[in-house]
Amino acid sequence: MNIASLVRENIRSLTPFSSARAEFKGEAEVFLDANESPYQTDYNRYPDPHQRELKGMIATAQGVKQEQIILGNGSDEIIDLIVRTFCEPKQDIVRYISPSFGMYKVVADINDIKCEEISLDTDFDLGVDLCLADQTAHHKVLFLCSPNNPTGNLLSSDRVKAVIDGWQGIVVIDEAYIEFADQDSMTTQLSQLENVIVLQTFSKAMGGAGLRLGMGFASSQIISYLVKVKPPYNVNNHTQAMAMSILKDVDLTQSRIAEARTERQKVVSALSNQTNVKKIYPSEANFLLIRFEKHKELYQYLMSHRVIIRDRSSQLNCAGCLRVTIGLPEENDRLIKLINQYYEEGTVHR
Ligand SMILES: Cc1ncc(COP(=O)(O)O)c(C=O)c1O
Repeated sequence: MNIASLVRENIRSLTPFSSARAEFKGEAEVFLDANESPYQTDYNRYPDPHQRELKGMIATAQGVKQEQIILGNGSDEIIDLIVRTFCEPKQDIVRYISPSFGMYKVVADINDIKCEEISLDTDFDLGVDLCLADQTAHHKVLFLCSPNNPTGNLLSSDRVKAVIDGWQGIVVIDEAYIEFADQDSMTTQLSQLENVIVLQTFSKAMGGAGLRLGMGFASSQIISYLVKVKPPYNVNNHTQAMAMSILKDVDLTQSRIAEARTERQKVVSALSNQTNVKKIYPSEANFLLIRFEKHKELYQYLMSHRVIIRDRSSQLNCAGCLRVTIGLPEENDRLIKLINQYYEEGTVHR
């Protein structure tokens, strides 16, 4: 596939911003290049625009080369970079699955890119023919999400592969929740996937939502275009340092992932006995999509008891559904108790 031909012409010919520090290769002693304050703190200097040390650690952890990584201010920023790199406003088109994460459409709308929604089937799996139908040269980016938010399931990998093979533009596979799943990341197959960008994040299993750090993995060619478009200092010093300390503590992250998976099963088992729970969708993520009887009232009831969950009932094929994140064991216990209490009280008052 000719990736360069998918890139917007103004981006292909763009001369990106370059700082003196990024151009300098040795160990500098005096920094008089960037109009910073000279008074030493943890933050008086600009961060490394290439995030070399952090990317080195991520490359080792993921088994990819540094040139195959882009880091962003959350995956949200990388989603925006992808759209701005490949899609010409008012001309090009992005497709995204539905129901799924809302930012694909929001980013496309902000950038004035046309959107096409591809409905998942009743098991929330991918329809290969639907995804690939009626493609034109303007269909630049297809967003898939696996495990999918808000449904929690993995998309079938044979269907994802068929879609990657048949799609003539870029396929983004958002793996924000992959650490909670019984499946390897697509990054393990990156060398055979010339038109794929895999997204991951520090916001979920890595416990760093407040740091705002997203990761994109792709061929070095795709990454080189995205890097041209990104703001030079998009990942701050503190975030780079904290991300490295998270990466060093693999055992802690692994034990938290294991706990989330155990707790997920605990919540499923507890709520399976509740007759007002109509369906609990199978989840490979750190949340559950659940169809409830009187979901709106339950949602309000939980809020009145200071427990916030997410109402997803207006999303396609999600009527009556609420999404609950798996929290600490005692938080999950409180949720289960309140749900049971709500329906018991309802019975009494009926
Ligand atoms: C599927 C998916 N992708 C991306 C994100 C955003 O991640 P980040 O915090 O890295 O911007 C989320 C956040 O909820 C998500 O659910």
